[in-house]
Amino acid sequence: MDNYVRIFDTTLRDGEQSPGATMTSAEKLEVARVLARLGVDVIEAGFPAASPDDLAAVRRIAVEVGQPARVEGMPPKPPIICGLARANKNDIDKAWEAVKHAARPRIHTFLATSEIHMRYKLKMDPEQVIERAAEMVAYARGMCEDVEFSPEDAGRSDPDFLYVVLAEAIKAGATTLNIPDTVGYLTPVEFGALISGIIKHTPGIGNCIVSVHCHDDLGMATANTLAGIQAGARQAEVTVNGIGERAGNTSLEEVVMALQTRRPVYNLTTGIDSTQIMRASKLVSNYTGIVVQPNKAIVGANAFAHEAGIHQDGMLKHQQTYEIMRPETVGVTHSSLVLGKHSGRHAFKSRLTEMGFALSEPELDKAFTRFKDLADKKKVITDADLEALVADEFYQPREVYVLDGLQVACGTLGLPTATVRLRGPDGQEHIRASVGTGPVDAAYKAIDQIISAPNTLQEFVIHAVTEGIDALGEVTVRIEGQNGQHSLDAQKEVQQAKTFGGYGADTDIIVAAVKAYLSAINKLLVAQGVLGEGERPAQVGAVAAS
Ligand code: KIV
Ligand code: ZN
Repeated sequence: MDNYVRIFDTTLRDGEQSPGATMTSAEKLEVARVLARLGVDVIEAGFPAASPDDLAAVRRIAVEVGQPARVEGMPPKPPIICGLARANKNDIDKAWEAVKHAARPRIHTFLATSEIHMRYKLKMDPEQVIERAAEMVAYARGMCEDVEFSPEDAGRSDPDFLYVVLAEAIKAGATTLNIPDTVGYLTPVEFGALISGIIKHTPGIGNCIVSVHCHDDLGMATANTLAGIQAGARQAEVTVNGIGERAGNTSLEEVVMALQTRRPVYNLTTGIDSTQIMRASKLVSNYTGIVVQPNKAIVGANAFAHEAGIHQDGMLKHQQTYEIMRPETVGVTHSSLVLGKHSGRHAFKSRLTEMGFALSEPELDKAFTRFKDLADKKKVITDADLEALVADEFYQPREVYVLDGLQVACGTLGLPTATVRLRGPDGQEHIRASVGTGPVDAAYKAIDQIISAPNTLQEFVIHAVTEGIDALGEVTVRIEGQNGQHSLDAQKEVQQAKTFGGYGADTDIIVAAVKAYLSAINKLLVAQGVLGEGERPAQVGAVAAS
């Protein structure tokens, strides 16, 4: 058995499938690019049978990210681009239609094998399940050389039955066998034993890669994944920030950093460039509107906060007193002074390049103007400020409506009032004023008067990028459209409401809040077909940090 663990990222499928994580296809493409730079081996780009839009998004990733070194900074060998399909011919055809454009395509098909799923969900008996699994793997294999099969809810399936289903899938041509703990039920000892049993008792398994796919319902997804790897699995299915159905999937950063930090224990490697982890985390959080909890391992805001906290004394005496990994290894840059008011365009450009951003000249001009503006208001400009500025300026959806002006009056002496000026898709200016319970509420109401996109605000999170009174404020919002935007959940076979995330950053927190709301509404409008998504006006690409 080799000592290389393949990282199969399912942020764009299982992650995006979770309520609230909807991304536009332009955002999915950007995430796929960042995943490729991160060095993942497989990108599960979506569930193409869900809708024509989903199919188009997966195809675009196959065409643009799944090619050898077509994009600057990409690894020469492109990642495998995978599409999910239920075990039926229509889904498999759609998955193939989407992924066949990639240099290394994969079809991933699944069928449930637990008693409870077979009886109540599939209404099939075990023999029918065996037959269908083999038939559909063979059908997929007829088109694609690389076929992954998952016995859904394997964690609650009878192991003896699993050995039979998996053996038939292997005979039919499966190349990877993925073992999901779909409902996050097993303990690490149980999951490790399940994987060992499968490797020991399934005929023909020696020619396949065994994969693990865990959910975090009991908070054991990372531990279970690592137990599966120790038992012999050589592919781990994970998502950035651990987003996913219910409590989420196994988090990519936790598995990768456990293998890297505790190498003597595991003696295994991955192809991940860990310095890109933070950037991927930030991007996924901004696009989905799902905020990372501050104490989240590896990528939480406090994950390395001891440097400024109560352990500082120990840290000053010896760094390793409280630190098991350096923040730089996951791409957390020190919040030190990097640039100031008098820094020129050249210094600005080199700092962004050092941080891994590759901006075109017009993008650089735009970013430099924002930087100068920020430097007038804020004495100390840190890497974190630059990241927020780039995210706010470039990682945005297509701007159907653009913020052209905002004025608020608030305080204890009167009614909070906001006047908002937006430029619409027709180039026309629209101005409305409204009162509200506070300045943000007033501004959102004014926007709602201009744009007819009924929605419910589900989440509003604000935080300061750095310390200090002059800090940039970052706002993340999540809204749910009320006009019935839905997506098909591959496993539950139900349509679920789509929500849209928005992000904004500014030294003025009301401006940041308005930008975030507008960016979420712009995504909602695109989903409603108000305007085709098209290309975003400005794209920024990060290059791998050396
Ligand atoms: O959790 C699960 O069972 C899945 C399968 C589709 C692999 O996501
Ligand atoms: Zn899953």
